[in-house]
Amino acid sequence: MGIRIISTGYYVPDKILTNKDLEKMVDTSDEWITQRTGIKERRIASKEQASSDLAYEASKKALEKAGLSPKDIDFIIVATVTPDYSFPSTGCVLQAKLNAREIMALDISAGCSGFLYALALGRGLLYSVPQFNYGLIVGVETLSKIIDWEDRSTCVLFGDGAGAVVIGRHNPDKIKSVYLGGDGRIGDLLILPAGGSKNPASIETVKNRMHYVKMEGREVFKNAVRMMQYSAIKVLELAGLKPDDISWLVLHQANIRIIEATRERLGISKEKVYINIDKYGNTSAASIPIALAEMDEKGLLKEGDIVVMVAFGAGFTWGGIVLEW
Ligand code: ACO
Repeated sequence: MGIRIISTGYYVPDKILTNKDLEKMVDTSDEWITQRTGIKERRIASKEQASSDLAYEASKKALEKAGLSPKDIDFIIVATVTPDYSFPSTGCVLQAKLNAREIMALDISAGCSGFLYALALGRGLLYSVPQFNYGLIVGVETLSKIIDWEDRSTCVLFGDGAGAVVIGRHNPDKIKSVYLGGDGRIGDLLILPAGGSKNPASIETVKNRMHYVKMEGREVFKNAVRMMQYSAIKVLELAGLKPDDISWLVLHQANIRIIEATRERLGISKEKVYINIDKYGNTSAASIPIALAEMDEKGLLKEGDIVVMVAFGAGFTWGGIVLEW
């Protein structure tokens, strides 16, 4: 018994914010952003668009491509750090928007590794619940809503978007290996400090700008390089594969230098690494499913391709999944 990704879909908001636009907002330059991150522009959700709206568009595309109706889906897992509300979950909001059956729907919070965590959990559900045939796995973020647009060290990095996949049973299993890890001891390096039970929303928390992303960029960078390299090697080993076997390396799009360092560690050629950070910035949990869906749309993924997905994110969380397309 196993599973496969049946279809993919993605959605990004229409509004494009370029590095040149950012030059007018904070003390930065297109040159600095491009050199340090590889980002040229990012998409920004409208005032009216919540994460569930982006998730809905991506999910609709994935379902259409699979030839399935929302009624066919047996569960929904949404990976996000920017849910519509603390509760109800964005998974439940999406279930209602899709007009799906009264099915299990939930959110998971694993930062930029969220999609990989969600895919692994979805696979576990298909394994363990005999009546489940199809699952909808979504990575979605509207990070623009929790970014401090006065903080140049973070506001240039992030973007909004959603990616979705429909998974179903398949024999043999198309997921060749899963490796996931986490360490909360260094979680403070990337945090949204207020709005939860630790620092409930108050006039003070708003005044102190505690409802915005806070990040120790240099420390996060070091950990991201270390753990993405480690995860890539580890998940390949678990699949019994070598770097030469990789058809596509699909890394979380956080920084071109992190992507490049991981590629170098594996010793594979640049053509095997999919990059779209220049267009979308860091879309956290949405970055890997957007990349997969874009590659699928462009016809880059061929049956039998070995796709290695690796991420690192808030928590901290990290991991990889090896997939045979
Ligand atoms: N424009 C111009 N200058 C800037 C900007 C900016 N937007 N931001 C920071 N600087 C300045 C700093 O103030 C600093 O100036 P100083 O030397 O006078 O103090 C200088 O640039 C260098 O700053 P660093 O933080 O050391 O720059 P670095 O090369 O580390 O790049 C960056 C910063 C891009 C944030 C990098 O640390 C990074 O990518 N970190 C990881 C971020 C990341 O991947 N986060 C997410 C991973 S997990 C997840 O995706 C949720």
